[in-house]
Amino acid sequence: MSKQFDVIVIGGGPGGYIAAIRAAQLGFNVACIDEWKNAKGGPALGGTCTNVGCIPSKALLQSSEHFEHAGHGFADHGIKVSGLELDIGKMLARKDQVVKQNNDGITYLFKKNKITSFHGRGSFVKAAEGGYEIKVAGAAEETIVGKHIIVATGSNARALPGAAFDEENILSNDGALRIGAVPKKLALIGSGVIGLEMGSVWRRLGSEVTVLEALPTFLGAVDEQIAKEAKKAFDKQGLKIELGVKVGEIKSGKKGVSIAWTNAKGEAQTLDVDKLIVSIGRVPNTIGLNPEAVGLALDERGAITVDGDCKTNLPNVWAIGDVVRGPMLAHKAEEEGVAVAERIAGQHGHVNFNTIPWVIYTHPEIAWVGQTEQQLKAEGRAYKAGTFPFLANGRARALGDTTGMVKFLADATTDEILGVHMVGPQVSELISEAVVAMEFKASAEDIARICHAHPSLSEATKEAALAVDKRTLNF
Ligand code: FAD
Ligand code: NAI
Repeated sequence: MSKQFDVIVIGGGPGGYIAAIRAAQLGFNVACIDEWKNAKGGPALGGTCTNVGCIPSKALLQSSEHFEHAGHGFADHGIKVSGLELDIGKMLARKDQVVKQNNDGITYLFKKNKITSFHGRGSFVKAAEGGYEIKVAGAAEETIVGKHIIVATGSNARALPGAAFDEENILSNDGALRIGAVPKKLALIGSGVIGLEMGSVWRRLGSEVTVLEALPTFLGAVDEQIAKEAKKAFDKQGLKIELGVKVGEIKSGKKGVSIAWTNAKGEAQTLDVDKLIVSIGRVPNTIGLNPEAVGLALDERGAITVDGDCKTNLPNVWAIGDVVRGPMLAHKAEEEGVAVAERIAGQHGHVNFNTIPWVIYTHPEIAWVGQTEQQLKAEGRAYKAGTFPFLANGRARALGDTTGMVKFLADATTDEILGVHMVGPQVSELISEAVVAMEFKASAEDIARICHAHPSLSEATKEAALAVDKRTLNF
């Protein structure tokens, strides 16, 4: 007799593990199947985010920022550093330790919530009495049955045709996070989120970095004014970003990688580098899931088809996170995981796609929520804009970090906040205030009337809200 569960979650990334925890909190008997292997072949819960995504990238961004500050930033504060050395081995080991702490944390949470954890690949076998039969192929093979199935199998890096990832010379996000020696020359294809974050890490550590981007505009999804400000900062740092390029043949050999490309003027170019990181987006992952066995529908991109509530075409089969439509973000996956568990329990389940924040953890950081100015213009919506530069913020001056601004967009008539866009110091934290405000349908005036601590970077948020009504106090 197969083991029976109320809920089986396939995939233990931020979507899956959070769904499992919420379902267990709601009193269900829950199993989670995840196939990720650590270096020793054991389980490593947390998916892409924990193992080769959000967490290790932020660990390296932090370490590389410390290195850059020590080398270039401290002098302004009257601190002299001599004999600065980089121990890349130790830096990577620290990053691995941070990953392990997060893996272990999820294992602990599973035990605490009495979730049965299976290490192996989960695949659909058939619809069965009482739900669906799922095969778990790990060290051993067994079949379990779940009344509800939540698919949270995530995504994989997209490769360029003719340039398969070897993780030696041509790297995905995985290889990009464990380069053992700082490459003298590094190329990235795609100046999206990974291109900018990973490009920043290796530039700070000493690589000469070139980013080749197909689109003619920089960070097209970001508010234009903010993207322009960010580009200026990256140019100043020496991150070479080529826009409007067409990438041609890529040859990889013992000496590195040679990339043929055409620049925006149509001129043929060749770039020879030690390593190449390809960061041109990610593809939904259903490898080995065997969706055909039960007739689970996929769309033309290979994503599992779901409605607004994460319901698939099959009764009691749900899908969340990177494997479905919508932004590929850990917190979006988590929100969907919680909402689905609550829907299974007959509750309402709430995900507001209009208030999902985005953060790019470069320096300056970029963060936004809601609509951009170009989107509002395209919609023909009447809006008011207010901006405030960090240059006029006392805390930013004390930090010595005055690049960037906060920008508010509010409805011209009702003053409801429609979007908040930031580039500057610690805006990954500042954006939360804007998310809360938008979730509560606040007006710009609401933020402008709230007392913000002085001196704090958050005063730039208040001042930008005041700027909507053309009454900044410090600018
Ligand atoms: P995943 O995290 O991909 O997890 C899926 C899990 O399912 C994996 O463990 C996989 O092994 C397992 N699996 C797949 N198929 C099966 C199967 N058949 N059986 C068993 N197990 C299976 N997002 C942010 O919000 N903030 C960031 O700062 C951020 N940084 C990132 C940096 C990088 C370099 C990358 C690559 C991504 C980053 N992301 C970030 C995106 C984020 O990692 C994803 O949006 C998030 O991990 C999606 O969660 P998920 O649960 O849907 O899938
Ligand atoms: P992306 O979608 O952010 O950027 C890909 C870039 O590659 C785009 O600018 C695109 O125009 C460009 N591109 C596509 N094909 C190309 C080609 N043939 N030649 C040159 N350029 C090409 O994807 P990325 O950076 O791979 O990241 C994947 C996803 O992971 C992100 O969209 C995001 O959802 C998530 N992520 C989130 C992070 C965060 O929240 N801070 C950090 C890193 C990743």
